[in-house]
Amino acid sequence: MRLARLRTSCFLAVFLGFFCSPARAAEGSKEDPNWWRHAVIYEIYPRSFGDSNGDGIGDLNGITQHLDYLKGLAVEAVWLTPFYPSPQVDFGYDISNYEAIDPQYGTMADFDRLVAEAKKRGIRIINDMVLNHTSDQDPWFKESESSRTNPKADWYVWRDGKPDGQPPNNWISIFGHSAWQYEDSRKQFYYHEFYKEQPDLNWRNNDVRKAMYDTLRFWMKKGVSGFRLDAITMLFEDADLRDEPYAEGQNAYGDRNTTRQFTDNLPEVHDVLKQLHEVTDEFPGRILIGETYLHTAEDLAKMYGAKNDELQLPMDTQLGFLNKLSAPDFRSMLTDAETKLNGNTPLFVFENHDNKRLVDRYGDGVHNDAIARLLATLLLTPRDAALIYEGQELGVANVDPKRVEDVKDPIGRLGWPKEKGRDGERLPMPWNGDTDAGFSTAKATWLPVSPDYKTVNVATESGDPNSLLNYYKTLIKLRKQDVQLREGEFVGVDTENPNVLSFLRKTKDAKAVLVSLNLSASAQELKFDLKAAGVQGRHLKKLLASASDINPSDVDHVSLPPYGSYVGHVQP
Ligand code: GLC
Ligand code: CA
Repeated sequence: MRLARLRTSCFLAVFLGFFCSPARAAEGSKEDPNWWRHAVIYEIYPRSFGDSNGDGIGDLNGITQHLDYLKGLAVEAVWLTPFYPSPQVDFGYDISNYEAIDPQYGTMADFDRLVAEAKKRGIRIINDMVLNHTSDQDPWFKESESSRTNPKADWYVWRDGKPDGQPPNNWISIFGHSAWQYEDSRKQFYYHEFYKEQPDLNWRNNDVRKAMYDTLRFWMKKGVSGFRLDAITMLFEDADLRDEPYAEGQNAYGDRNTTRQFTDNLPEVHDVLKQLHEVTDEFPGRILIGETYLHTAEDLAKMYGAKNDELQLPMDTQLGFLNKLSAPDFRSMLTDAETKLNGNTPLFVFENHDNKRLVDRYGDGVHNDAIARLLATLLLTPRDAALIYEGQELGVANVDPKRVEDVKDPIGRLGWPKEKGRDGERLPMPWNGDTDAGFSTAKATWLPVSPDYKTVNVATESGDPNSLLNYYKTLIKLRKQDVQLREGEFVGVDTENPNVLSFLRKTKDAKAVLVSLNLSASAQELKFDLKAAGVQGRHLKKLLASASDINPSDVDHVSLPPYGSYVGHVQP
């Protein structure tokens, strides 16, 4: 593991028995350029994290107020989803000014304070950056749509329709129906991969590139540590506008599915990623995270760049969104991440603001708590960087709207009831059992708080040593403090087992931690032969397990209950 070299002061702290992390090492000292390797990055949806002024909508000061909680979790960085001025059609992913703050989230002074207060606590801020499209209210688009000859006429993807007035081709928006919108002022169509209020920028235009790169510089000068690049694989569309071949089935909006081979993951994306890398390299220690829903490890590997000159952390979405508990599948994905990414760090993710909460995708209704611990262990013990979405550490579940008239996310109205939208995973963060779950003091919050907030909340779980929250905290601490979990290579063991996923994190001195995860609903008895993996010891010393009675004494007698997790040192 090529984790950051720890600083002298850090070694001293370890020697004296203090908790020490690369994040701490950054405090008050020079930026460690490798801080992101093995980092835990916490995703905040600002609208739903903390509401400081009682209007029912989360805001930047609400995040600042809760920074001590994040320090307690010991995350290295926070990724903030968009807080820029926006008509909020896509709740901030339709940006109308890339270098300002939407008044409902606060002011630039609030943002500066957030960055400074986070830094004091060893936490870095990562901005979401939406490069694929702007809002249709962005002055760039206003100018572009005004005529065919204005200076920004070519900044978006404009095309003539077919002679019969139909759109230029059969491309379908991810959010439903034709991806082309007719604009009378130009008597042309513009392309939008998402809502029609989100016109796609033309990344073949160098002025667009230059303008966006300056935006990145603007935020880096303000102290942000990097960017999460929204929909980054979608920057380019086929220049010849070829029709997409049709694929099986229909989407939730009744359109025939297409292959998306002409609108997603085009090779030109890599030119832009290299330029973005150069721009962020102007500032030390800054990183690029990519929203990369790719289907193979080979495609994911390309996102790091042939010379590691593109993204530091493209998201590996295959593991976390497998949506079934399968030891062989998880094993092969972890092995791919270890062997096919050219030694780069995978960034695993199980939850975000676009997908149902993990208990809704993996839970069986009976063992949900054990399954949540299992997936936390799977996320936080391999050689990886890890994303956590607010509330995931509490075991928050989806609560989808019951009636179409309550839906806020437009795709939920268009696709109802097949697609209920993403409100269900965006409910206010439950801080305690008080009014509005401690999120707000408003009469009504923008989305309702979850009905189970009296028990599933930060305050209650903080006070319970056996809570999921404390399980996450322990895991995050362990992955920083334990040398094997921090630096060890990943070695699969018992690799034919259809029910239990087991692996070692092994350092060069042949010391190892064993991780064993029962992905089945029945109890499992395990015996490990670790000699082939170059590990001699037979005794086990527990670091953490999902239940207190999981405590095997040696590698020949490991019993795991249904969905049980075990992490322990192998010893002589
Ligand atoms: C990304 C965001 C999602 C948004 C879309 C369009 O997928 O995560 O929330 O709707 O891009 O910007
Ligand atoms: Ca507010």
